[in-house]
Amino acid sequence: MDRNEVETVLASVKVDTMADRITLFQIGPEGLLWTRFADGVQEPVFPFWTEIGTGVAGLAALRGTVVVCGPSSDESSPIAPIRDEMTGYETHDLLAVPVFNQEGVLLGVIECINRRSGTFSETDSDLVRPHLEALRQLLLVEDDRWKDQVKRALPSARLYLRLRPKLDWQQGALMQEVSPFSYDKKFSGFRDCAKEAKFLLDVISRWRPDGRRILDLACGTGGHSVELALLGFDVTGIDLDLRQITAAEHKAEQGGLDIRFLQADMCAFSLAEEFDLVFNFFYGMQNVLLAREQQDRCLACIRSALTQRGLLVLDFLNEKANLHQFPPDVDHMIDDGMKSGLRIRSRSRILNDQFKVLEMHFQSFSQPELEVTERYPLRRMYLSDAQKLIEEAGFRVLEVAGDFALGAAFDPEFSPRMIFTAEKI
Ligand SMILES: C[S@@+](CC[C@H](N)C(=O)[O-])C[C@H]1O[C@@H](n2cnc3c(N)ncnc32)[C@H](O)[C@@H]1O
Repeated sequence: MDRNEVETVLASVKVDTMADRITLFQIGPEGLLWTRFADGVQEPVFPFWTEIGTGVAGLAALRGTVVVCGPSSDESSPIAPIRDEMTGYETHDLLAVPVFNQEGVLLGVIECINRRSGTFSETDSDLVRPHLEALRQLLLVEDDRWKDQVKRALPSARLYLRLRPKLDWQQGALMQEVSPFSYDKKFSGFRDCAKEAKFLLDVISRWRPDGRRILDLACGTGGHSVELALLGFDVTGIDLDLRQITAAEHKAEQGGLDIRFLQADMCAFSLAEEFDLVFNFFYGMQNVLLAREQQDRCLACIRSALTQRGLLVLDFLNEKANLHQFPPDVDHMIDDGMKSGLRIRSRSRILNDQFKVLEMHFQSFSQPELEVTERYPLRRMYLSDAQKLIEEAGFRVLEVAGDFALGAAFDPEFSPRMIFTAEKI
């Protein structure tokens, strides 16, 4: 497709949708949605980007559905004000439509800005539909000039990721989808903190028997910290979300336990104390930290918080096994709700070879009208990706377990998790 053809495709989308402007985003480096085309925007602003789950295009990517935002829609998510400041262009309403390839993998998002008459509504996505094939083709065409532009913009994107810790992951990265259920209620069936603490006890007894000081990274509501304190360890927990910290403190207080909980960003912390073991459970390295840049920074902080030959324990979802145990684009019943009181269904959607979205639907068994769907973007990681990440950060891998059951060997095809134990070198 040459430049003229590209211009023709985009111009006809604009005319047919009655948009004043259009922006075409493509999923690219660091899992960001990069502008492949944005009319009215020149370098140095172009290319700009948004995160999966942030802004209207990011929301369409995360949900995999059409998103409308503007005065007439229910969506109160922000219309990226920074971009308006930079370009001096005022945005009133937006329509974002995800563009998938034939296999249903997300390629990008087309965003129509400011309807020239009235405001956008969901039915306007019908106006985009006839152009989807052409947009798909356009996104599949390699463009070296665009790649160079993205490369140049990458350092500032990384700086942004570094400076802005993500706080909004908790509502499935989403603003309005406030859950009627507490964190502990939603995830009680997914965790067994006592068992997971015993797993750490086993690790520490075998590899660093004199180790006592443990750091629970992104500790959430403190379930693991409490169990470890009960086992006699000296525990510190950090989390970015003050609400989680408050819940954790309450738990410790009720158990009469002395645990330090601090609000800190796992990608930018430095504590006065040193630790014999630092751990992160429940896939934080993949769903809290999506960009490789963030993962590297987190590992650098961990490394400096550890004593000499201190231990690192990281819990990853085993992508290989997950793909065939829970095939994408199909609903899986995770909990029928009989015992736990919450019916839980999950479904995943592959965004590209690096990212997927895990969609969880929670519904109260006794009050079915109480329900919420949360979506978590996740960095897809295979054994070799996790190993490389850890080794490149200055650690030696000691062992990989496939589960928290003691002695669970890792089976690449069937183990649900990849729990790495590594030591600082
Ligand atoms: C999936 S929960 C896991 C909590 C806990 N580790 C568990 O297993 O239950 C992820 C936690 O990461 C926290 N979080 C998100 N971004 C963070 C960041 N940049 N630094 C520290 N904590 C963060 C969230 O507030 C949340 O409590």
